Amino acid sequence: MSTSPIALRDAQISEDVVAYLQAHEHKSMLRFITCGSVDDGKSTLIGRLLYEAKLIFDDQLAALERDSKKVGTQGEKIDFALLVDGLAAEREQGITIDVAYRFFTTDKRKFIVADTPGHAQYTRNMATGASTADVAVVMIDARKGVLEQTRRHTTIVSLLGVKHIVLAVNKMDLVGFDQSIYDAIVEEYRAFAGRLGLEDIAAIPLSALEGDNVIDKSANTPWYKGPQLLGHLETIEVEDDLAAAPFRMPVQWVNRPNLDFRGFSGAIASGQIKPGDRVRVAPSGQESRVDKIIVMAADGGEKSLKQAVAGQSVTLTLMDEIDISRGDVIATADAPTEAADQFQAKLLWMSDQPLLPGRPYLFKSAAATASAQISGPKCRINVNTLEELAAKTLELNEIGMCNLSLDRDIAYQPYAENRTLGGFVLIDKLTNATVGAGMIDYALRRAANIHRQALDIDRKDRAQAKAQKPLVLWFTGLSGSGKSTIANILDQKLHALGKHTVLLDGDNVRHGLNRDLGFTDADRVENIRRVAEVAKLMADAGLIVLTAFISPFRAERELARSRLPEGEFWEIFVDTPLEVAEKRDIKGLYAKARAGEIKNFTGVDSPYESPEAPDMRVDTARMTAEEAAEQILAKMLSSGVLERGGA
Ligand code: ADX
Repeated sequence: MSTSPIALRDAQISEDVVAYLQAHEHKSMLRFITCGSVDDGKSTLIGRLLYEAKLIFDDQLAALERDSKKVGTQGEKIDFALLVDGLAAEREQGITIDVAYRFFTTDKRKFIVADTPGHAQYTRNMATGASTADVAVVMIDARKGVLEQTRRHTTIVSLLGVKHIVLAVNKMDLVGFDQSIYDAIVEEYRAFAGRLGLEDIAAIPLSALEGDNVIDKSANTPWYKGPQLLGHLETIEVEDDLAAAPFRMPVQWVNRPNLDFRGFSGAIASGQIKPGDRVRVAPSGQESRVDKIIVMAADGGEKSLKQAVAGQSVTLTLMDEIDISRGDVIATADAPTEAADQFQAKLLWMSDQPLLPGRPYLFKSAAATASAQISGPKCRINVNTLEELAAKTLELNEIGMCNLSLDRDIAYQPYAENRTLGGFVLIDKLTNATVGAGMIDYALRRAANIHRQALDIDRKDRAQAKAQKPLVLWFTGLSGSGKSTIANILDQKLHALGKHTVLLDGDNVRHGLNRDLGFTDADRVENIRRVAEVAKLMADAGLIVLTAFISPFRAERELARSRLPEGEFWEIFVDTPLEVAEKRDIKGLYAKARAGEIKNFTGVDSPYESPEAPDMRVDTARMTAEEAAEQILAKMLSSGVLERGGA
């Protein structure tokens, strides 16, 4: 068989390609993020790096030169910001990820730079980008020095576990490469960052625009003896201790194509694993041994591995049939991971709507999802001074320390030890918007040391003694809609039937249990949270509970429902239009609210979120309170939750 010159040449190329790929495969990877205000030169710097590292394609370069002349801000010179911003604009059209990860490589190292567009959601994007970064390049405009933004971003990257900072003092050309200006900025920054525990700070005087100290040593800064930016990024040592840490893999997917196969798929968050290794699953605590480690092969088939390490996505099969679901964490049995349902965490608030303590938010960590309530923040951190300030809530971009209480145990690890297992986001259950990002400090032992006491008389016994089924009738509606009146009539009817009831009414409860609460959103959330707990306790005691509270927010009504077994909670919407309630104005409160004498009045300057799918709706414009009560009673009888006979 003769070999043609073309085949030889192809073989040569493919050998080169293989060699090239291998060389790159063994290069270390550095993930970094750039932070700074919009015009500090972030885009110009990334553009310059890509350009100097010859990472811009010829056609992109031609377009860049053309655009620079047309719309650039740099005269005849290339405007590098256009390159990055142009890509950003493209990216922002209809694509939902706000953080673009740009990949580039030099002879020495591979890089992933998280590029976060500098618009209003900047803090959120930055937090997302920083959560996987090894290094943060903090950009400062030499003319402006250390700004509040600089401090805020530094605080955020440090909270998110970034340990290495490059302080890029940019636009040195605009201050005449003056060393004293540079020194003063570096000194001020070091003092601040030092207090955050950031020790590795490399400061570099730069002009991203002119290229000074980006790749080559600048002749304009003879007084500067340190490294250039790219060289520093190529050599900076970042700890890669994830592979050495104990094995942890959050299960993202239980893979069960047929009855004979059951695999658990996920990305390994830390450590390594081999077939035969003993594992323990959190939170259940069950143990087994790894049978196989399976990955997808390049040809689309599957292959088994002898070992897998942090960063790899694999499917594990185990030797025993044990119950594992999505969100559980498989860990080495030697050093298992813990599970808990209450935590202290740092929280970065990212929503225009302030944090509402007590409201249930959706909690999402590596793979686990739970419902979380946050108690009032312990403190808020002033990002300028790092002072801990008293706070009742957290507003947009504020950072605080909070206690979190989940509705179930989740496997976790402190964020400082493992960013994957210690990081989480909070999501608003109604709008699905991400409202916060958090980092677990530790589990609260308070929860671990309080065990549930098993009671010999259970809720069934208590209900049986009263010859009735417990039920919570939750009336909701505007002030003056008729909730209290209808509940009161129904209460009498139930009482007459020999039923054991209790009526919790807003105005009354606010004189006792909840007399410390007013009518801000936060206070209403807490009002309803307490009432939901009381209603649950009373239903546990076997009672039929009637509650009459405006309860204006869906989230808290859902919370109340979630505290009770299926079918034991009826949301009854007393549907009275605002005009009608206002016209009745039995307590004269609407008039006062309109006159501005009462603030935050529901329907006037505080919202009411109508039930979307109430269990019952009573239309008070079409029936009397007596008729409404009769209608509810009839439904209770016909649905079987109420029996006539009684005790
Ligand atoms: S809730 O919103 O937290 O559920 P709740 O039902 O306990 O409110 O209390 C509402 C009652 O408080 C109203 O019926 C009214 O009598 C009185 N009230 C006083 N100020 C306000 C206000 N700003 N908004 C609504 N109700 C108020």
